[in-house]
Amino acid sequence: MREFMQICGFWFVMSLLWCIETRASAAVLPPGDCPETCGNVNVPYPFGINDTSARIVNPRCAMNHFFMLTCNSTYNPPALYFGNIPVQNISVDEGTMSVTIDEAFDCYDKAGLTMNINRWMQLGDGPFRFSDTRNKLTAVGCDTLAFMTDAEGTFGSGCVSLCEENITLEDSCSGIGCCQTAVPRSLKTLNISIGSVDNHSLVLAFNPCGFAFLADQRTFNVSNFRLSDNPYSTKDYPTPDVVIEWVVREETCEKAQSRSNTSEYACGDNTNCTFSENGRGYRCLCREGFTGNPYLQQGCQDIDECKEPEKYPCEGSCKNTIGNYTCSCPLGMHGDGKTGCQGFRITTLATVLGALMLVSIIIFLIVIIWKKRRKEKNFLDNGGKLLKHQRVRIFTEAELAKATNNYVTSQLLGEGGFGSVYKGVLADNTQVAVKRPKDLDKTQLNEEFQHEIGFVSQVNHKNVVKILGLCLETTIPLLVYEFISNGSLYQHIHQRRSQILANWKNCLKIAAETALALDYLHSLANPPIIHGDVKSANILLDDDYTVKVADFGASVLISPGQSNMATKIQGTFGYLDPEYLMTSNLTEKSDVYSFGVVLVELLSGVKPNSSIVMRSGEKTNIIQKFLSSLENKKLSEILCFNATDEEMEEIGVFAELAKQCLSSSGVNRPTMKDVAEELGRLMKLHQSLWAQQNSEETENFLGGDSSSYLSIEIETTKMKQPDTLNMTTISFEYSADSV
Ligand SMILES: *[C@@H]1O[C@H](CO)[C@@H](O)[C@H](O)[C@H]1NC(C)=O
Ligand SMILES: *[C@@H]1O[C@H](CO)[C@@H](O)[C@H](O)[C@H]1NC(C)=O
Ligand SMILES: *[C@@H]1O[C@H](CO)[C@@H](O)[C@H](O)[C@H]1NC(C)=O
Ligand SMILES: *[C@@H]1O[C@H](CO)[C@@H](O)[C@H](O)[C@H]1NC(C)=O
Ligand SMILES: *[C@@H]1O[C@H](CO)[C@@H](O)[C@H](O)[C@H]1NC(C)=O
Ligand SMILES: *[C@@H]1O[C@H](CO)[C@@H](O)[C@H](O)[C@H]1NC(C)=O
Ligand SMILES: *[C@@H]1O[C@H](CO)[C@@H](O)[C@H](O)[C@H]1NC(C)=O
Ligand SMILES: *[C@@H]1O[C@H](CO)[C@@H](O)[C@H](O)[C@H]1NC(C)=O
Ligand SMILES: *[C@@H]1O[C@H](CO)[C@@H](O)[C@H](O)[C@H]1NC(C)=O
Ligand SMILES: *[C@@H]1O[C@H](CO)[C@@H](O)[C@H](O)[C@H]1NC(C)=O
Repeated sequence: MREFMQICGFWFVMSLLWCIETRASAAVLPPGDCPETCGNVNVPYPFGINDTSARIVNPRCAMNHFFMLTCNSTYNPPALYFGNIPVQNISVDEGTMSVTIDEAFDCYDKAGLTMNINRWMQLGDGPFRFSDTRNKLTAVGCDTLAFMTDAEGTFGSGCVSLCEENITLEDSCSGIGCCQTAVPRSLKTLNISIGSVDNHSLVLAFNPCGFAFLADQRTFNVSNFRLSDNPYSTKDYPTPDVVIEWVVREETCEKAQSRSNTSEYACGDNTNCTFSENGRGYRCLCREGFTGNPYLQQGCQDIDECKEPEKYPCEGSCKNTIGNYTCSCPLGMHGDGKTGCQGFRITTLATVLGALMLVSIIIFLIVIIWKKRRKEKNFLDNGGKLLKHQRVRIFTEAELAKATNNYVTSQLLGEGGFGSVYKGVLADNTQVAVKRPKDLDKTQLNEEFQHEIGFVSQVNHKNVVKILGLCLETTIPLLVYEFISNGSLYQHIHQRRSQILANWKNCLKIAAETALALDYLHSLANPPIIHGDVKSANILLDDDYTVKVADFGASVLISPGQSNMATKIQGTFGYLDPEYLMTSNLTEKSDVYSFGVVLVELLSGVKPNSSIVMRSGEKTNIIQKFLSSLENKKLSEILCFNATDEEMEEIGVFAELAKQCLSSSGVNRPTMKDVAEELGRLMKLHQSLWAQQNSEETENFLGGDSSSYLSIEIETTKMKQPDTLNMTTISFEYSADSV
């Protein structure tokens, strides 16, 4: 602005007219050579200065003659006058002018009133009013009565101040030693008169004089006065300011703005017009975002808010716009930058992300460690420590999952109440059967179990399915068996109508081998390993039709002396030892009974649990039928194959053995050793008999390995690869109490 005025001023010197023309269509602008200060008082447009020392004064320096103030520069510093009232300050923003008007006062002595100065003030015809909001009529004294009216006496108001000695005037004007009353609106003239109630006669000692004046509430400080003050002796108190409000023109904004002659509207660019009730006229204001003198054409200039961060806060990057500014929050934060940015700073974001990542890594590690711990715990719980020292191979969970192709259904060999058996191929191409027991009560997997599992794992007999190893990492141990390719005896008898069993020799061989296996189990340890579930389905046949007794592991899960029949009795209906059923005491003799059933099954080809209807209409089972045909010497009736007379002799011995095995009382049954020996004897007998008859075909039967008399060539063609373990598993049932 100053620059503009200097430029304009420069040209004004050249041509006043030119300058006037350039602002012809705008609000009237003061010429550039107008003085702006008088002493230390700033005199902004619309005010102008009529300096007493200046030869010529341009009337355009003020909006109009009402705003022309007088500067008496003979004073040092020069003093500014509004009429005859000294002016202290002018505020364009507030539309005010602070002036000093001498106070009214009265003084008394013992004789009475000595001095009474009332004040009379008037603001002329201009658009000036006493401020009704800032000023208050104020009286100071202890017996003082102040009264004010306008010149015409259209209103009157006042206050009385009374007090006693030794009061303090430190606080605000509270009524003791000082009283105040409000000034009415639109006041242009004011008479202030002062008096007393009692000629100060009671308070003369400390308060000879009273004072009355208008005072600006913003600056008035009553403690500047003392009750002992006497304006004649010493005036050491400052005269309080009086605030005069002004408007540019006494008309409404609407009226001013609607004038066709735009130069009659006092407000410049980027301004707003405000109406003052006190002055009943309008003033100008720079719009928000602009600052300067709104009465100059281009007085209101854009504020560069970014340079004043205290007044115009911005947390982000600040950008000034005309009349406003934008503030964008830093990357990664959101919100209005002026009132603050929310969210994360990039660094905070990175920190948080980092922390999250760290936490996830820790959790990941914890999970891995926990899993490993769990595996180790399972391993230990399942007797890993004990078994480690034994010959049994310990498989890992992963190894078996891989071998069984993650227990895919196509690998399923069999399924039963106890769990499932899957075929698997180990890394070294060994075929295995993996038994996955169903959930067991964990507490049942006690040390005894572990011990026996360890023991059973050492079983090594050519007619017993080998346990290759265990997996102890799982909650319930997985059992890994060798894979037996040719199915079970059950399948051969009942499902395949296998030709190999249409031959007495083969039946005898299978019976003898099974007996050897059971005898082996019974004699291996003390207490003996009881199979517990001897049946045709648990007698597997390998490629060479060599017997492999399976599922003896079941027996170790049956602890003796359990009392609850319903949950404890294991085994398969039809094969179960009736004595075991009654006493629930599983012994080797229970295996002998079941074996007897298998012998009958071999002879008859009938399922032991199927019922047979007799000619008499009576229902019976194959065991009963077998026993009665043996009694009646009509054994051939139940045979499922043809036999020669010589063979029938052997079969008779065989049947007698079976009958002994089937004795209802365990003590009357032979031991497995007896049975194995008897069958072995029978085999030898048969072989020599057979050899005599077929001496020319010697090469047809194989001497086999020296330890076995059982190697007999099987004269049937090899069968298609069977779904081997299917039946072997069905009867094997874990139950919580049996473990
Ligand atoms: C300035 O003041 C003098 C004396 O009071 C007066 O004669 C003169 O007209 C004034 N000039 C203007 C421009 O008001
Ligand atoms: C200016 O002040 C001086 C000194 O008080 C006085 O004599 C003179 O009359 C004043 N001039 C005007 C114009 O008031
Ligand atoms: C005038 O008033 C302004 C605020 O309105 C203040 O900052 C300034 O100090 C005052 N000047 C005088 C001389 O009283
Ligand atoms: C006060 O003094 C005046 C004369 O100075 C006298 O006329 C008046 O009676 C006095 N009033 C009182 C209440 O003493
Ligand atoms: C106010 O004072 C003036 C000047 O002394 C006087 O002419 C006028 O009558 C007074 N008005 C009132 C109402 O007292
Ligand atoms: C006021 O103070 C003075 C001196 O401090 C003392 O002499 C006088 O008695 C006090 N007056 C009252 C009414 O307390
Ligand atoms: C009033 O003035 C006194 C001393 O003159 C000072 O101590 C006090 O702070 C002032 N009060 C205000 C509100 O300015
Ligand atoms: C507009 O008003 C100004 C000041 O009152 C005057 O000088 C000017 O001649 C007026 N213009 C017109 C076109 O009325
Ligand atoms: C100023 O005027 C403009 C438009 O005339 C209006 O949008 C704005 O609110 C006004 N501001 C004030 C503070 O009156
Ligand atoms: C400035 O911009 C903000 C929004 O960014 C808006 O709220 C405000 O009213 C604007 N101020 C002015 C004077 O236009």
